[in-house]
Amino acid sequence: AKKLLVDVDCGVDDAQALMMALASPDVEILGITCVHGNTTLENVCKNTLRVLKTCGRLEIPVFRGASKPILGVSKDAGFFHGADGLGDVPDSNAPGLEMVQKEGAVAGMIRIATEHPGEVSLVATAPLTNLALAVRIDPTFPQKLKALYIMGGNTESRGNTTMCAEFNFAADPEAAYIVLNDYPCPVYIASWEFTCRNKLPWNFCHDWLAQDTEKARFMARIFQHSMKQANSERCQKEMVGDDGFASCDSYAMAAAIDDSFVIEYDTVAVSVELTGKYTHGMMILDFLGLLEKKHKAFILKTVDMERFKTLMMNALK
Ligand code: BDR
Ligand code: CA
Repeated sequence: AKKLLVDVDCGVDDAQALMMALASPDVEILGITCVHGNTTLENVCKNTLRVLKTCGRLEIPVFRGASKPILGVSKDAGFFHGADGLGDVPDSNAPGLEMVQKEGAVAGMIRIATEHPGEVSLVATAPLTNLALAVRIDPTFPQKLKALYIMGGNTESRGNTTMCAEFNFAADPEAAYIVLNDYPCPVYIASWEFTCRNKLPWNFCHDWLAQDTEKARFMARIFQHSMKQANSERCQKEMVGDDGFASCDSYAMAAAIDDSFVIEYDTVAVSVELTGKYTHGMMILDFLGLLEKKHKAFILKTVDMERFKTLMMNALK
């Protein structure tokens, strides 16, 4: 089985990505680490437990990570994901926070990678604060990973949070910089523009949510709030549009768990702008080789969308 660690800020598309992995027979999730992002850290932990409960998988350990970025204050994306991060449909039977591990996220991810050197793929669908802290605490941590899959950053300086920065990078630019510069393992990136180019059409989403399962009913409930943002003027509104829905975090997950999903990558050194007035948090792609960086990332370019639809469909079966 493919061994995974997943780092989330459990909003609606994180939930979808998690459910995709949980439904995949050949995937073993060794731990889920939580971080600030779409909502508060406490809500992220609660939401993650709710997803696990819906899938009958509460045995998977959930860890509490960073509640704030390295610098500055947390952003949140409540306008898109709901104030609680999962569409504001409370569940009185939700598992309590006592289910969260006593061990912290950074210690947990370092321990798990050390127990399985070279075997664990880390999928990060959130601000990269936990990952940045992990490499500062144990500089050998990234070398122990098989690969890192990130949803975040942008390829055409198109932002969804600031003018030039995608949410996960904008929410902790310094952490994104540390990760893109200090993770020598293979790094795969599903950028904002890539996800917007590969939306799921609404007729697919309709059939997807209409499946007669508890998982589909859960998803239909938590997804309502985001679907209503289609014509709003708010940031991230392009995740839902007339042309369909981009389940951003699910593309990074699909790349991690299914070798036939990605058809083509751009192979290029990447970094993050930290000083620009308008561009703080923007991912930069060094196609000219001016950074003279040996380590190149793999930027998802073309993918098999039929394969993606099958993975998404199976997630709610
Ligand atoms: C990213 O930001 C979050 O709102 C989503 O969960 C996704 O990880 C898209 O920019
Ligand atoms: Ca996310």
